[in-house]
Amino acid sequence: MSNLYDKAYEQSINDPDGFWGPIAEECHWYKKWNKVLDDSNKPFYRWFTGGETNTCYNAVDFHVDNGLGDQDAIIYDSPVTDTIKKYTYSELQTRVAGFAGVLASKGVAKGDRVIIYMPMIPEAVFAMLACARIGAVHSVVFGGFAANELATRINDAKPKVIVSASCGIEVKKVIEYKPLLDKAIELSDTKPGSCIILQRPQARATMKDGRDFDWDDEMAVAVPRDCVPVKATDPLYILYTSGTTGQPKGVVRDNGGHMVALKWTMSAIYGVEKGDVYWAASDIGWVVGHSYIVYGPLFKGCTTILFEGKPVGTPDASAFWRIISQHKVKTLFTAPTAFRAIKREDPKAQLMKDFDLSCFKYLFLAGERLDPDTLSWAENALKVPVIDHWWQTETGWAIAANCVGLHKFDVKPGSPTKPAPGWNMAVLGDDGQPISAGEIGAIVARLPLPPGTLPTLWQNDQRYIDSYLSVFPGYYETADAGFIDEDGYVYVMARTDDIINVAGHRLSTGGMEEVIAGHPDVAECAVMGVEDSLKGQIPLGMMVLNAGVQKDPAEVVKEVIALVRDKIGPVAAFKTATIVKRLPKTRSGKILRGTMRSIADKKEYKVPATIDDYSCLDEIEDSLGKIGYGNKA
Ligand code: COA
Ligand code: AMP
Repeated sequence: MSNLYDKAYEQSINDPDGFWGPIAEECHWYKKWNKVLDDSNKPFYRWFTGGETNTCYNAVDFHVDNGLGDQDAIIYDSPVTDTIKKYTYSELQTRVAGFAGVLASKGVAKGDRVIIYMPMIPEAVFAMLACARIGAVHSVVFGGFAANELATRINDAKPKVIVSASCGIEVKKVIEYKPLLDKAIELSDTKPGSCIILQRPQARATMKDGRDFDWDDEMAVAVPRDCVPVKATDPLYILYTSGTTGQPKGVVRDNGGHMVALKWTMSAIYGVEKGDVYWAASDIGWVVGHSYIVYGPLFKGCTTILFEGKPVGTPDASAFWRIISQHKVKTLFTAPTAFRAIKREDPKAQLMKDFDLSCFKYLFLAGERLDPDTLSWAENALKVPVIDHWWQTETGWAIAANCVGLHKFDVKPGSPTKPAPGWNMAVLGDDGQPISAGEIGAIVARLPLPPGTLPTLWQNDQRYIDSYLSVFPGYYETADAGFIDEDGYVYVMARTDDIINVAGHRLSTGGMEEVIAGHPDVAECAVMGVEDSLKGQIPLGMMVLNAGVQKDPAEVVKEVIALVRDKIGPVAAFKTATIVKRLPKTRSGKILRGTMRSIADKKEYKVPATIDDYSCLDEIEDSLGKIGYGNKA
């Protein structure tokens, strides 16, 4: 007998117009679309062409106009500043309209870019929504990135205005953002017209006359702005994500498809309705934060939690339980690494006992593979369904999930369950042909992708095609490898490129190698992701020094670690590296990163027949052993 999921899935694939059209009717449109799915310019499929809407209206004003003005829209819970502050939808509207006025006064108009480099504070959300309100395109940059990474994004997005804050707070450390911002602007070729800086009491930023403006001063004189109609296909935001090189990819999200898809996912995937409290414990700098701290819950009329803290240390491993019970959270979404951190501090979940969690219905995890240990620990401790779901910055929402709002399937550990409606998935072999159930290959999605996914990369259609559509024509390449079993459950096993996943954060080992290769004493290097019991993976660097370098090797290691932190940022968590005489390579010169990774992780491996020198593997084992990896540790 077919269930709601089966029906929805079947229709979404065979009749996308009939599926998404009625869902879109639940949103507010100034002008209705001409076409639900527009395939007139393949492979650039577009959704809701001809339609006009406003994302901010749908996230904020729509609820005020429909009687939800007094309901909490945002609960800002910040243990690091000892603050809890609530904003109703009406208050949110006032703040957002005000800040839209500030942006407009600095010359920001429809289509202009605004970079937001801020910690987890309500003003960051106001700024995002204010951009959407006037049709500007925001690009949020995660606070843990260094000046150099910020500069790369400034150069690509060419923002008219940058919005930032004087500092962020990482547990007890105050991280000054303004010096990083100043350095990034100095490094970049494009200079913003103005910067708007929120001064936080923990650190005051030094302002540059004529360029920097104080958030509060500007808000005090702002003339509020109303929502402007934008095309469904106009860009709402750019979010940069790691590619295989140091040049990040600018993932574009449009207004119409994004709004329709995200609003629908709130009930279909997460099982929440208007008025429910929904919490994504992530950061607005990541896609999870965009989709499920800000847009999804607000489109749906939920109350969203903005948490400025960590799963442990703010003040301890009970932080999540305190928030769930205090704010009556129904659904929590975070990364498995957060639960591994809690489990490490409080293995028996003793701290949970002090809290009434009867409001809590579902835990959703994503961002990295959900290891069976963490899954069973969370299930046993929380006694609610623990749902793994798989997605990417590019997709904006889940590719595969147990869509509890449609039908709850049995959980199979290691699998994020079945493709979500809209996702026509396949697993292909090296020859590009579909392979049998249970066999590992490249996981791909048949085009068109559903609404809300990336239509292209920012001003780089060719890179979009080259990165995602060219290897398997007619398909989107996820760059994840895995299989689909006989019951249709998807299993995501590993990336097929050199992206690694550190504490749910996506990082490019290629990008780190580029930085390390820039050290004057390094001849060549390889960075690979090795297993880590807390963060899932961490980067490990192997370096060969230039002939004749006299410096103490430990000194070079220290300098290289500092260099990666300085160029990419602390979020890279690059803390382990070693020096070797040679790197193992094939005769054609390809570095055997996979072989070294297997040695470090104590996994069986086959040495490729094309290796140029077997003896160098012994030295690799010895070197890894000295820093605590592999069988010789
Ligand atoms: N601004 C400035 N620095 C930041 C930052 C920010 N917004 N976020 C992280 N950093 C810094 C941290 O302070 C740390 O610096 P350090 O090397 O000086 O200690 C470094 O970047 C690494 O941070 P993180 O990866 O968060 O590791 P952690 O050891 O501080 O915490 C966890 C580990 C598991 C507790 C943490 O990663 C976490 O809470 N994860 C939750 C899941 C999540 O957010 N996932 C995102 C996608 S869903
Ligand atoms: P990001 O773009 O930062 O969201 O990272 C996306 C990548 O994280 C995916 O391509 C996967 O490699 C990995 N990922 C995300 N969610 C899962 C999951 N549930 N299971 C396995 N891997 C995941």
